[in-house]
Amino acid sequence: MGVPVKSCLIIIITNLLIALYFLSACRKGVTETGFVAPTVLQIREKLEIDENFPIVFYSTAYLDYRYKIPRLRVFAMNPCVTHKEYMSAEIGLNQKKKKVKLRGEPTEGECPWHWATQCFYNSYIWTAELGEANGTEMVGIDQITIHLNNRTISLKVQEVHPKRKGGFTVCVQPVYWYSEYHNIALFIETWRSQGVTRFIVYYHSSTTQVRNLLEYYRNLGILRLRPWPSFGRLPTRLFPNLKLPSFDSSTYRVGHTLAQNLCALEMKTEIGAIADFDEVMVADKEMLINYVEEAMKPDEVGALSFSHLLVKFEPKISTMDFHGVVKPVFLDRNGPPKTIFNSSAVDIIVTHSIRRFIGNETTIRANGSLLHYRHNSYTDPAKEVQKPYSLFTSYPNLHIKRIQKTLRKVFGSSIPPYNSTYLHVLNQCITKIVGEGKCRSTVEYCKQWMEPLTDWVYDTTEGIFVV
Ligand SMILES: *[C@@H]1O[C@H](CO)[C@@H](O)[C@H](O)[C@H]1NC(C)=O
Ligand SMILES: *[C@@H]1O[C@H](CO)[C@@H](O)[C@H](O)[C@H]1NC(C)=O
Ligand SMILES: *[C@@H]1O[C@H](CO)[C@@H](O)[C@H](O)[C@H]1NC(C)=O
Ligand SMILES: *[C@@H]1O[C@H](CO)[C@@H](O)[C@H](O)[C@H]1NC(C)=O
Ligand SMILES: *[C@@H]1O[C@H](CO)[C@@H](O)[C@H](O)[C@H]1NC(C)=O
Ligand SMILES: *[C@@H]1O[C@H](CO)[C@@H](O)[C@H](O)[C@H]1NC(C)=O
Repeated sequence: MGVPVKSCLIIIITNLLIALYFLSACRKGVTETGFVAPTVLQIREKLEIDENFPIVFYSTAYLDYRYKIPRLRVFAMNPCVTHKEYMSAEIGLNQKKKKVKLRGEPTEGECPWHWATQCFYNSYIWTAELGEANGTEMVGIDQITIHLNNRTISLKVQEVHPKRKGGFTVCVQPVYWYSEYHNIALFIETWRSQGVTRFIVYYHSSTTQVRNLLEYYRNLGILRLRPWPSFGRLPTRLFPNLKLPSFDSSTYRVGHTLAQNLCALEMKTEIGAIADFDEVMVADKEMLINYVEEAMKPDEVGALSFSHLLVKFEPKISTMDFHGVVKPVFLDRNGPPKTIFNSSAVDIIVTHSIRRFIGNETTIRANGSLLHYRHNSYTDPAKEVQKPYSLFTSYPNLHIKRIQKTLRKVFGSSIPPYNSTYLHVLNQCITKIVGEGKCRSTVEYCKQWMEPLTDWVYDTTEGIFVV
């Protein structure tokens, strides 16, 4: 039945008429014609998704009361689908069973995402409005069962309500093979000095030093580590004849936009942000939290966008000497912005913006900056510029002392030297993936390069992703 066209693999299952069309396998054809098309083109005859659909679910679904009509929201990684297709699910409502249809939307707003056209799996949020159900009636839901024909998947259900006033939560998207622990120490100290009360870090893998430092902050009670293990295997019994890529080998990075959206639901405070360990946001004139609370007062303001500014410290903080952070050097190099948002108001977020609000809120430009102390700020040529920003609004030397004290507490009097090999090899590997035009599924692809370098700590929590 399968007809090979050039090197493409076309698989047709007669009764379902699924055509899975891997352009990644026929890149030659693509470059010859200069035509860039989606990696995956799916034509389905039936609109109801069945057991032959490769999908991995986040094990918790959310019953989201921030909408006028409460929504059931299910998070998954799967190939592109149209909005017409749906999954059937059953929820328990006060002992009664209720059937709902879940419809999917890619978190990126497009599928495939133009940054990840070679990736087979995409972050999706599947939603059902629970129309007739009144708030009080909904109390009974604690589980949802999804029926893909004769394949059933059970998920836990967690409620989301409008968030509480006060406090400020920063989420860090899944860290994998992370080694720059000096960045983390500066990150936590700076954000806290700007008013942040809580951190949520999605964790895939890191060096032992990074893990130890994160656990130290977790034990202080200011940081929550959320497991983000590998997605796991496709159930082969379901796809015996299909040569589907594994979830881990064909997902952009580690599915980071899924984690970002989960984190926006998990945070308990209204004010929140998503950042990497080498990024902090600061306001022009005052402590960040004071500025943000004021700037968000108008009802129509749902988020503030902070423009990018590249920063370097002299000496480099990887030497464990943090005195350079008192007078940061700013560099004239563009980069995408990041936002601080009201987590009661956001519907879908992406890394650099709010894709949609629940109501008619908007994003406005902040009087402040996203300070990015990226490792390549030392090597890439860029002009120095004068800016009025500092990381700490007061007593910088006190904060530096606290960073050093923390490092000594975690690592003892001789703080281990930072080994840049891990980052260097990871970047080499990523350059190779990009050069080869492959899906940037870093975790799977760079495994052979990274694993031999050190004893990595991996998250291996079971049951986070279910198939
Ligand atoms: C929902 O609650 C309203 C009043 O709060 C009531 O009038 C309505 O009948 C309820 N709907 C259902 C489906 O029970
Ligand atoms: C599920 O249903 C499909 C088609 O309806 C059938 O081919 C398959 O054998 C069934 N699988 C199981 C595990 O019952
Ligand atoms: C956040 O959004 C909610 C819902 O729209 C609103 O009630 C609340 O006042 C907003 N909070 C801030 C700090 O703007
Ligand atoms: C949208 O914004 C306008 C003005 O900012 C406000 O009057 C209106 O109530 C808002 N609509 C909704 C549905 O929130
Ligand atoms: C930024 O600063 C200007 C000048 O002080 C002020 O008019 C404007 O409202 C501020 N904008 C925000 C979003 O804070
Ligand atoms: C850094 O790690 C690499 C890979 O494990 C190792 O070969 C190298 O000796 C290490 N460098 C230092 C200074 O420890």
